[in-house]
Amino acid sequence: MTAGKRAVAVLISGRGSNLRALIDAAAADDYPARIALVLSNKPEAEGLEIARAAGIATLVIPSKGKDRAEFDAEMDAALKANGIELLCLAGFMRLLTTEFVQAWYGRMINIHPSLLPAFKGTDVHARVVASGVRFTGCSVHFVSPEMDEGPIIAQPEATAEAVAAAVLEQEHVLYPQALRLLAEGRLSIEGQRVRVKA
Ligand code: GRF
Repeated sequence: MTAGKRAVAVLISGRGSNLRALIDAAAADDYPARIALVLSNKPEAEGLEIARAAGIATLVIPSKGKDRAEFDAEMDAALKANGIELLCLAGFMRLLTTEFVQAWYGRMINIHPSLLPAFKGTDVHARVVASGVRFTGCSVHFVSPEMDEGPIIAQPEATAEAVAAAVLEQEHVLYPQALRLLAEGRLSIEGQRVRVKA
């Protein structure tokens, strides 16, 4: 059933795990959108294979060596020619011109791997770890001309179940590591502190 579904293009530059999630979700009969096109600015993007395997049309518009206005105009024309109504950026590593963003404002969304407004930009996880923050997440937001600044649509809910699942996953890594240290005789108790011998 495709009648009545909004035609979506997913814009990628790489791996495509979010693309895969969107394709999987859109496979349901009652999903209100269909992935009509996957567009990459990189010919080598792995996500293109995911799209092809799912029988979705792909388009590569190389951005290398093109200025932003030229690239965005080419992309805009291709999207219109394909009857695209909505855009999902999913690991699309290319800054867009204000003109393009304004033309698609309200119809273009992005996923960012932090709890915005914290940690905008790139290299997010390294900066999260370096900052000492113990809890992070992701955000889906409308794309606006300033990077990662647009209105936020969704962030994961910090339910007790979700926190429990995330913590349990850490437990299963940490506990065997601690037992190893104990079994290797590398732990000494100094008052309330534990020293780990190298
Ligand atoms: C994800 O971390 C996403 O949040 C960010 O870029 C990455 C894309 O990964 N915008 P993938 O290509 O969807 O696997």
